[in-house]
Amino acid sequence: MSRLSFILILFNGLLLVACSNTKKNANATSTQGIPSLKETFKPDFAIGAALNADQILQKEPNAKVLVPEQFDAITPENIMKAEVIHPEWNRYNFELADSIVAYGKEHHMIVNGHTLIWHNQLPAFVRGMKNADSVHQYFVNHITTVASRYDGKVYSWDVVNEALNEDGTMRKTIFLENLGDDYVVEAFRLAQRAAPHTKLYYNDYNIEQPKKRAGAIALIKKIQAAGVRIDGVGIQGHWRAYNVPLADIEESIKEFSALGIEVMFTEVDLGVLPSPGEVTGADVNQTAEYNAKMNPYESGLPDSMVQKQTISYEALFRLFEKYKDKISRVTFWGVNDGQSWLNNWPIRGRTNYPLLFDRQFKPKPAFYKVIETKTKAEQKAF
Ligand code: G3I
Repeated sequence: MSRLSFILILFNGLLLVACSNTKKNANATSTQGIPSLKETFKPDFAIGAALNADQILQKEPNAKVLVPEQFDAITPENIMKAEVIHPEWNRYNFELADSIVAYGKEHHMIVNGHTLIWHNQLPAFVRGMKNADSVHQYFVNHITTVASRYDGKVYSWDVVNEALNEDGTMRKTIFLENLGDDYVVEAFRLAQRAAPHTKLYYNDYNIEQPKKRAGAIALIKKIQAAGVRIDGVGIQGHWRAYNVPLADIEESIKEFSALGIEVMFTEVDLGVLPSPGEVTGADVNQTAEYNAKMNPYESGLPDSMVQKQTISYEALFRLFEKYKDKISRVTFWGVNDGQSWLNNWPIRGRTNYPLLFDRQFKPKPAFYKVIETKTKAEQKAF
């Protein structure tokens, strides 16, 4: 090859790289003039948000713009739960669920159905059931009807949510008590039949903790041993900004992925408020009374706490980046601080700041650090 053709090839190559970078950067910027989470992390994993009913119905002007720019995966925060979607024995209410499917389609986002079997937010007719036959009939009908309606329309289902206690044993729920130990396997078997084109996941909080993690691994192995399909596990990720269990999270990514399934972080938020007593994780039944001492940041978050949260989010995303080949999705539990469930749990009426966007939908310092975990790593590699 002549020196001239070598230089020409080199020049063309550089031009191509420059053009593709320009295109990437153009995509990576949103209307707010800020980078886009979903574009930044596109090569590695999907970036999701849980949406409330108003956001799904596009009634909130700010979320309407921000959500499709920042996220490529959505989870309904409440509207696919049994109490909403199946309010009476013979009546289903698919209106809102159909809306999130349409929303996802319109914006090319994957929709994670949440959730088929959970002991909370059950309809009154189920909570009042007194015999195993009725619970069994409900269980079969609910999974079959809902999962088959959305087969291929939702990308995935949290088939069973929060079936474990903190020590890794099975949680005593209406399902365990009436259907026995194998109900989780049966839920996946029914979902597999009803939704052959949909990914099927087990989802829980605190399963990065050693004992509960061991319980989750045993449960997943049991499903696999029964020849039933399970495609992934969702570690919820309701942690405290001042105490994120990074070592346990890392170990969990390794151990869960060794089972041959996807690992996801499905409900990430890093709350900053003090926890009453023994409350950790996300058990909605653990609540406490309001008292002003437990609501210290009503008029704004001090810089020291902003920094703590920023550092924690950065460390978390560095870890996610390190294991990007094992992680398929990272979803935040909400869009902005003002709408987070953590303003009302475990104590109602507090002011919490757990997400990457503030009450005005503006990106927080943590947002930029999260973006940098990817862009700075790219610069280093270059
Ligand atoms: O349905 C009523 C509605 O009729 C009423 O107008 C409204 C007024 O307060 O309350 C509504 O119910 C609330 C419901 O959310 C829907 O907004 C409940 O009081 C409230 O407790 C419920 O909280 C949800 C919680 O699950 C309940 O279990 C949170 O929004 C939701 O973020 C949370 O999500 C769970 C995940 O599904 C599983 N993992 C833990 C996570 C956090 O708890």
